[in-house]
Amino acid sequence: MSDRLYIFDTTLRDGEQVPGCQLNTVEKIEVAKALEELGVDVIEAGFPISSPGDFKSVVEISKAVTWPTICALTRAVEKDIDVAAEALKYAKKGRIHTGIGTSYYHIHYKLNSNPDEIIERAVRAVKYAKKYVEDVEFYAEDAGRTENEYLARVVEAVIKAGATVVNIPDTTGYTMPHEFGEKIKYLIDNVRGVENAIISTHCHNDLGMATANTISGIINGARQAEVTINGIGERAGNTSLEEVVMTLKSRYKVLNIDTNINTKNIFKTSRLVSNLMNMPVQPNKAIVGRNAFAHSSGIHQDGVLKNRENYEIIDPTEVGINESSIVLTARSGRAALKHRLEVLGYELTKEKVDEVYEKFLELADKKKDIRDDDVVLLVDDTQRKERR
Ligand code: KIV
Ligand code: ZN
Repeated sequence: MSDRLYIFDTTLRDGEQVPGCQLNTVEKIEVAKALEELGVDVIEAGFPISSPGDFKSVVEISKAVTWPTICALTRAVEKDIDVAAEALKYAKKGRIHTGIGTSYYHIHYKLNSNPDEIIERAVRAVKYAKKYVEDVEFYAEDAGRTENEYLARVVEAVIKAGATVVNIPDTTGYTMPHEFGEKIKYLIDNVRGVENAIISTHCHNDLGMATANTISGIINGARQAEVTINGIGERAGNTSLEEVVMTLKSRYKVLNIDTNINTKNIFKTSRLVSNLMNMPVQPNKAIVGRNAFAHSSGIHQDGVLKNRENYEIIDPTEVGINESSIVLTARSGRAALKHRLEVLGYELTKEKVDEVYEKFLELADKKKDIRDDDVVLLVDDTQRKERR
């Protein structure tokens, strides 16, 4: 039997922290509904104490969305927890996500505290949140740079206090996949009572390893992944939902772990978030970038036209993209041009294709990519010459 991974989407909280990407409440509701349709298990809707706008958004999302759990972020501070509970009062399933820094840096330089006091504050916050909701998630901020032995003490204490989910964030995107995997394994192997909670990943992308770290955490026993659409988030971003989900789906035979995501909605959700946040998706972004299913070199085009799987590991329709594209450039071969001519309704002899291909190469050396109307003009031009 396969295992189930819970997808916790934080596009509207951690993702929305990107400068210039703030959404209003109406836009956030639109994204939340799209996330519900996508099948995410948890929507982190905001940090209610941070602003009246964030508070309102958590309230309105709680009313508008019914299937996923709605989660609100807090610091390990009673006032934050009171406000989060108030914002969640309409949620069918509400979760409070509270936590505190656990790394040497955070304990000494940010919180001016000591390791024992941090555990006391963590336990107090979890117990306080439990007065409002059954589902309490605890985050050990900067767990990526927290020594494993101490982290295990924190995790054990908060689970004992009632945490249902314990989040192990690599807040600064510092770890490498083997280290992050070992950290999760260490907790699974050493924390008493770990079976009473779900261990979650929350990896940032400062070294470009967020997805790899998340997958490594999952392989080692984490069963919730915190992600954002298009990987948006602070600095270099969070782990991207589409990359984690499609890794699990396309490597299912090896990993044997499932999600509830309706992958056919991935592309449209990606574009919705990109448009509303005015944040373009980089063309070579895995899964949802403009070039993720585009083939431009002659050898690849020929291979894909013979059999898509020669150069594609994912069927684009699985993520809601109609078809792969064959881009005509100076690197394209005859096979690609012939294919494009057929799509445009031309049935030309081999000689004619050769003739058009020569003209095509001349043009392609001058122009970055050749569009359909360029191809039509090339055919018209050769036919006109023939008639003269
Ligand atoms: O990166 C982080 O540590 C966070 C926590 C607040 C969960 O976003
Ligand atoms: Zn984060």
